[in-house]
Amino acid sequence: MSTPILEARGVSQLFPIRSKQRLFARTTMQRAVDGISVAIHPGEVVALVGESGSGKSTLGRMMLGLLPPSEGSIHFRGKALAALSAEEARTFRREVQVVFQDTGASLNPRHTIAQSVAIPLLHNLGMRGPEVARRVDSLLDQVGLAPGRFRDRLPHELSGGQRQRVGIARAMASDPSVIIADEPVSALDVSVRAQVLELMDRLRRQRQLAYLFITHDLGVVRALADRVLVMQGGRLVEAGDVDTILSNPQCAYTQRLLAATPVPDPSRQGRRLAEAMRQNTLGETPP
Ligand SMILES: Nc1ncnc2c1ncn2[C@@H]1O[C@H](COP(=O)(O)OP(=O)(O)O)[C@@H](O)[C@H]1O
Ligand SMILES: [Mg+2]
Repeated sequence: MSTPILEARGVSQLFPIRSKQRLFARTTMQRAVDGISVAIHPGEVVALVGESGSGKSTLGRMMLGLLPPSEGSIHFRGKALAALSAEEARTFRREVQVVFQDTGASLNPRHTIAQSVAIPLLHNLGMRGPEVARRVDSLLDQVGLAPGRFRDRLPHELSGGQRQRVGIARAMASDPSVIIADEPVSALDVSVRAQVLELMDRLRRQRQLAYLFITHDLGVVRALADRVLVMQGGRLVEAGDVDTILSNPQCAYTQRLLAATPVPDPSRQGRRLAEAMRQNTLGETPP
C-alpha cells in the first residue's frame, strides 16, 4: 500500500477542565481525543462522524498541525511533523489545507475576493506578477464564481454559499493533496449544500485530492466517502468502508444516526452524489 499522505498515530489531546464554582479546585484533564490512529491515502475520502463534542474538530486541528498532540504523533508522508525540515514543513503547509464550516465567513472583510484568493499564491507558492491574477481568475472559475463578477467584490457582498466557494478556492490555490473539511456545508441552506458538495467532489476527482470529511450527515458520507470513522467521547468506536458500516452498524451512535437519516439503497455502485441529490437525502429531510 502507498505511504499515507497524512497519518495520526495514537494521538490524544488533553484539555484542562476548570471548575467555575470552586476557585481552588484542582484542575482535572479531559481526554477530548483519546488514542486515535487514522491514515489518509492519496485520493481517498475518509468521513469522520460523531456526535457534537466527540473530538472530531480537535483531531482535525491536530492533523492540520495547528494543535500539537498531548500523546502520539502526526505524520506527513511518513515523517513526524516534529521531525520535518523547514522545507518539508512548507510543503506540509501547502499540501494540507482546510475548509471550515464557515471558511468563507473568516475572509478579511476589507479584502476583495481576488486579494483573499491571492494570499496563498503569494505566500505558499511564491507566485508574482500577472500570473497571480490569471491564477485567481482560474480558481474562481473552477469553483463556479464568474471572475468578472466576483473578483472585485467584498465578502459581505456574497451569499453564504458563494463565500464558502471562495474558501474552497483559497484552499485549492495551494494545490493541496489533502483537505480537511470540518463540516464544510453545515452552515449552508439545504439547497446550496448539494451544490457545494458536488463542487468538492468534482475538484477531488479532477485534482486527485484526499479529504478528511467531518460531517453529521450520512447522506454525505454515502455519496462522497470511501471509508468512515465514527468517534464517540474522543475514541474511535467504529471504522471501515462505507458500505459495511452503513449496512451493518455496530455501535449505538451509528445506529441512531442511521435511523434518523433517510439513506438510499444500501448497495453501493460507485459514487452516488447525483443520486443522493436527486433523492434529496443530503442534509435535513425536506418538509
Ligand atoms: N481549546 C479547547 N480548550 C478546552 N476544551 C476544548 C477545546 N477545544 C475543544 N474542547 C473540548 O473538547 C471536546 C471535543 O471538542 P471538539 O473537538 O470541538 O468536538 P466536535 O468537533 O466533535 O464537536 C469538547 O468537550 C470540547 O468542549
Ligand atoms: Mg467540531
